[in-house]
Amino acid sequence: MEDSKLQDYEEKFYLNCGFATRALHAGEKVGRPEHVAHTSPIYQTSTFVFNNADHGAKLFAGTESGYIYTRLGNPSALLLEAKINALEGSEVKKKNPNLRVSTLAFSSGMGAIASTLLAILSQGDTLILGDVLYGATEHLASNILSKFGIKSVEVNTSDLSAVEKCIRENPTAKAILFETPTNPLLVVTDIKKVSDIVKSVNPQIKVIVDNTFATPYLQRPFEFGADVIVHSTTKYICGHGTVVGGLMTTIHDEVKNAAYTVIKDVGGNPGPFDCWLVNLGLKTLPIRMEKHCQNAMAIAKYLEKHPKVAKVYYPGLPSSPYHDLAKKQMKDFGGMISFELKGGLVAGKKLMDNIVIFTLAVSLGCVDSLIQHPASMTHACVPRDKRLKGGLTDGLVRISVGIEDIDDLLAALEEGLALV
Ligand SMILES: Cc1ncc(COP(=O)(O)O)c(C=O)c1O
Repeated sequence: MEDSKLQDYEEKFYLNCGFATRALHAGEKVGRPEHVAHTSPIYQTSTFVFNNADHGAKLFAGTESGYIYTRLGNPSALLLEAKINALEGSEVKKKNPNLRVSTLAFSSGMGAIASTLLAILSQGDTLILGDVLYGATEHLASNILSKFGIKSVEVNTSDLSAVEKCIRENPTAKAILFETPTNPLLVVTDIKKVSDIVKSVNPQIKVIVDNTFATPYLQRPFEFGADVIVHSTTKYICGHGTVVGGLMTTIHDEVKNAAYTVIKDVGGNPGPFDCWLVNLGLKTLPIRMEKHCQNAMAIAKYLEKHPKVAKVYYPGLPSSPYHDLAKKQMKDFGGMISFELKGGLVAGKKLMDNIVIFTLAVSLGCVDSLIQHPASMTHACVPRDKRLKGGLTDGLVRISVGIEDIDDLLAALEEGLALV
């Protein structure tokens, strides 16, 4: 079969395959003309060779497709983008074959979020934000977007009447961005209900979901009405702590085209080697996520019963107010847990400084377990009163549960907590 026909045929075939098959095979032949190496090569190059002057001119004029310069596109990035289209978009595409799902890869999660917002919003527009977000996302809205005349307002997206009120009160809103589950309190938002409210009150507003904590293996926001999905691939998608990267996936061509212009003119494209590493990580996403979820559930249950633990935040626990919603919206509950020790910050510091296996480091979603203190680390740039209002107390500890043997993780926690 000709290359282009084979690619079309494969794309359609993979639409009906399971998640693990898509994670391994989707996109693998995109941008790979030679079909020689079993693992796709890293196109570690800044620029591409033109066949002759006419060819170069046609590529620049857009009358022929191909690669020019890595900021404008690179086969290693294209493969990753095609795979994410298949992982985030296959279910919705099966229902609506005319839907076009497009992904752009970025050099970081923040690069993806900032470029997406710059693509959608203009001076005078309003951005609605979930009220508990990764610190840099909040900082971006209040310190950078504000300089360009983009106003931001916050709303608790798990309170549907507050969402409706906020949309009615902000007729200049063009986007709503929220995380679900949130970092670090694991608050779950009903994507379908929020999307329905947004579309019924102001269909102009794009619903943007930061799907970093869940990954497309556990939750696919397009199936619930989202318009745009952003990821920090630094986390579970890469999974090995080797890359800082990001993605934006959308079902709207105009969003993709505008975000592409931002990459082209502002930069923010990922390096080819980083794309290759993220793609490698994606191949094992399903089995990694299964194990992260299994381990996290066992640890959450253990912590909930521990006499030194005041509160555990994990949507997999039946005691979580988000348990039923998470069960409906997610395949499983993820690998992130936050908890409050009865001894507050002093006890938390003692645990973080003494525990074995769990590495004291920010970031999350690595194959190995990490532990950190949101108030002084990931969320240090959120003003204290606002942090406390959102339930993010000084004594909160966050763990990213890895895929180690569960008995060893439990033993490490038992010993660490005994010292508290
Ligand atoms: C939910 C969420 N979104 C976005 C980001 C930003 O991603 P990056 O660090 O890759 O820029 C993070 C980082 O921790 C995050 O936790």
